[in-house]
Amino acid sequence: MAMNLQAYFLVFFLCILVQVQASSPAIQALVAPITKDAKTSLYTLSIANRNYLLDLSGPLLWSPCSSTHPTVPCSSEECAAVSGAQKHCSNGGRACTVRLRNPVTGERAAGDLTLADIVANATDGKTPTSEVTVRGVVSSCAPDSLLRLLPAAAAGDAGLGRGGVSLPTQLYSKLSLKRQFAVCLPSTAAAPGVAFFGGGPYNLMPPTPFDASTILSYTDLVRSPTNPSAYTIQLRGIAVNQEAVLLPPGALARGGVTLDTAAPYTVLRRDVYRPFIAAFAKATSGIPRMPRARPFELCFNRSALGFTRVGYAVAPIDLMTLGGGGRNWTVFGSNSLAQVAGDTACLAFVDGGRAARSAVTVGAFQMENNLLLFDEAASRLGFSGTLFFIRTTCGNFNFARH
Ligand SMILES: *[C@@H]1O[C@H](CO)[C@@H](O)[C@H](O)[C@H]1NC(C)=O
Ligand SMILES: *[C@@H]1O[C@H](CO)[C@@H](O)[C@H](O)[C@H]1NC(C)=O
Ligand SMILES: *[C@@H]1O[C@H](CO)[C@@H](O)[C@H](O)[C@H]1NC(C)=O
Repeated sequence: MAMNLQAYFLVFFLCILVQVQASSPAIQALVAPITKDAKTSLYTLSIANRNYLLDLSGPLLWSPCSSTHPTVPCSSEECAAVSGAQKHCSNGGRACTVRLRNPVTGERAAGDLTLADIVANATDGKTPTSEVTVRGVVSSCAPDSLLRLLPAAAAGDAGLGRGGVSLPTQLYSKLSLKRQFAVCLPSTAAAPGVAFFGGGPYNLMPPTPFDASTILSYTDLVRSPTNPSAYTIQLRGIAVNQEAVLLPPGALARGGVTLDTAAPYTVLRRDVYRPFIAAFAKATSGIPRMPRARPFELCFNRSALGFTRVGYAVAPIDLMTLGGGGRNWTVFGSNSLAQVAGDTACLAFVDGGRAARSAVTVGAFQMENNLLLFDEAASRLGFSGTLFFIRTTCGNFNFARH
């Protein structure tokens, strides 16, 4: 009888144990606000209540550290995850050091690899649910001087690239998240945009449950030989007002098409830029011009432009993707014309010169109020096109907790 009682209690306690474990359910995703910096037209991501430059192609998180920061030995797993070309050993193998780059100025510096705990909000895709601490996140210590020309609020750089120690890569493995993240950049400082790390839904229109991930088109992500941590896609062509822009053969394949939030506006290599500007000028020949406003070349009299739900009424631009059904990422006035001083709005694409690394670097302005899903598990990019068509914006995530 006594034995039976003991056995009974054992089973009873085991049941409680199992229930306690089951009641701390797996985290579906983390959520963080994205803020536009008016001065630089760049964006910051807020993690652990600090802001970092939103850097889609950066290899890892970096910021200045205290002088007593822990270092990471060269023999460690963390050091091994950094790609060889970027690291070296110092202090007799006790400190793994990485080469860091400010993506805005191109300046470089060396920094110790270090480990930090970060706090972020988990989400069910509707609102933040609870704070979670992610322990031992690999980041790097940068000299203060490496912050030059970043938004004033940025304490460092949040590298979200494809490498082994980028922030998303670490969050996927530490929290067993679905291997994907999404960003939605705001167009104003009035309401923050949003980043999700992990699986959807990604609800954007409170209180109506609307999962913006359900309206995405997809194209394959490929590896860039020149920048392996960058998100690179393939385009088969560019059209303005549904007419193909005549580009030199193979121009878009040479150097590829990358997405880069450290570029405020899309940069086109000269051989793509010239025919593109000519095509847009032709398609808008009836609209009164204004003097150029650097860095833009083709500018219009704003009062003479019509306005629609998707921004200024100008010729749409199709980025015609390759693979995944060959869908178009269509850029309308809200993402093609930037308002500059006074009565001037300019075509917000810039000349990258002959030596630009990519044929096209899609910049942040062209991503505003679009949901972009970087699906590493399936090696594909999901893009929504402008959310204005479905009457929402990137500023419509409900950041107030349940
Ligand atoms: C989590 O979300 C709440 C509610 O919006 C916010 O007050 C808090 O600062 C967030 N925590 C972090 C670490 O971002
Ligand atoms: C993509 O854009 C091109 C050029 O405007 C057009 O001819 C084609 O029909 C579009 N494709 C789709 C799937 O909408
Ligand atoms: C811009 O267009 C408006 C309305 O058509 C016109 O009144 C104004 O003079 C134009 N401005 C310039 C600088 O051409």
